[in-house]
Amino acid sequence: MIARELIALPPFALDVEQGLSRIPKSLPPKLFYDQRGSELFEDITRLPEYYLTRTELAILRERSREIVASAGHGIAMVELGAGTAAKTTTLLQALSSTQLRVQYFPVDISRSALFEARKRIESELPSVNVRSVVADFSEGFGFLRDMPSPKMVLYLGSSIGNFDPSEAIAMLQQIREHMFTGDSLLLGMDLVKDLSVLLPAYDDLQGVTGEFNRNILHRINREFDGDFDLDSFAHRAVWNPGRSRIEMHLESLKAQTVRLRLLNMPVCFAEGERIHTENSYKYTTAMACQMLANGGFTLSRTWTDKRKWFALHLAQI
Ligand code: AVJ
Repeated sequence: MIARELIALPPFALDVEQGLSRIPKSLPPKLFYDQRGSELFEDITRLPEYYLTRTELAILRERSREIVASAGHGIAMVELGAGTAAKTTTLLQALSSTQLRVQYFPVDISRSALFEARKRIESELPSVNVRSVVADFSEGFGFLRDMPSPKMVLYLGSSIGNFDPSEAIAMLQQIREHMFTGDSLLLGMDLVKDLSVLLPAYDDLQGVTGEFNRNILHRINREFDGDFDLDSFAHRAVWNPGRSRIEMHLESLKAQTVRLRLLNMPVCFAEGERIHTENSYKYTTAMACQMLANGGFTLSRTWTDKRKWFALHLAQI
């Protein structure tokens, strides 16, 4: 289209245009994380139903010395999808007690989250040198080339669960290309568990997850001059057993046509039609081992909590 060549469209224009033209409609979850979305996600991590963050944090708190020791000596930390890096402090602390200087490279798509991360860590842990990297992983992992070795690459919080297994393996392979002997990967993965625990984590009583989900429409309205009526879309969270994932959708409560003026694009919805906004894969340790192996890594240790709700996997190349 001519317009696209003449005016600079916002980032994600292609993702939005393609996602809403597809059947079934979908939007990529990376769109959740504007400033408001990042705040809402932080709220989610504090919900009573959302066990992931606090369970992973408890494992990290209890095992940080062991984890850091297993990763080797004199390492730099690289954190993919760091967000505000709330969980990483405990690992950085453990590392600071065995190393004079610690280099920490948080990488994230959200500039505002990274700013907060750096501010907090620099004041809490003065021996840690923070260098933030803004990056969208769908554009590759080239930024890893500039990072020192030996390093420990962290990918926590079940963030990898957003990707289909084939995408996740391709990502692991790309990360692997920038790793050398002595480097390691610490991967946080949510475990398969009872639906009575899984479903409320993605459909909380207070409706924060619903607000997080709908915020994607609010963002599209703002950035693409759209007229989504947020009240006519309902949050849905469902378990897909065949693919071992929680899915989030936005369901149109009526037949309607939404306009995105910046994309010159009408989008029609039937009553009950859904936009698929997120997958959150849940893995057994066997599945994780296989996925890591397919990505070129060897699983060397796994730490879990007592209830076996969440796992931290340490892998070597
Ligand atoms: C940030 C991808 C790990 O899948 O649990 C939380 C995002 N979505 N509630 C997850 C999310 C709805 C979260 N991850």
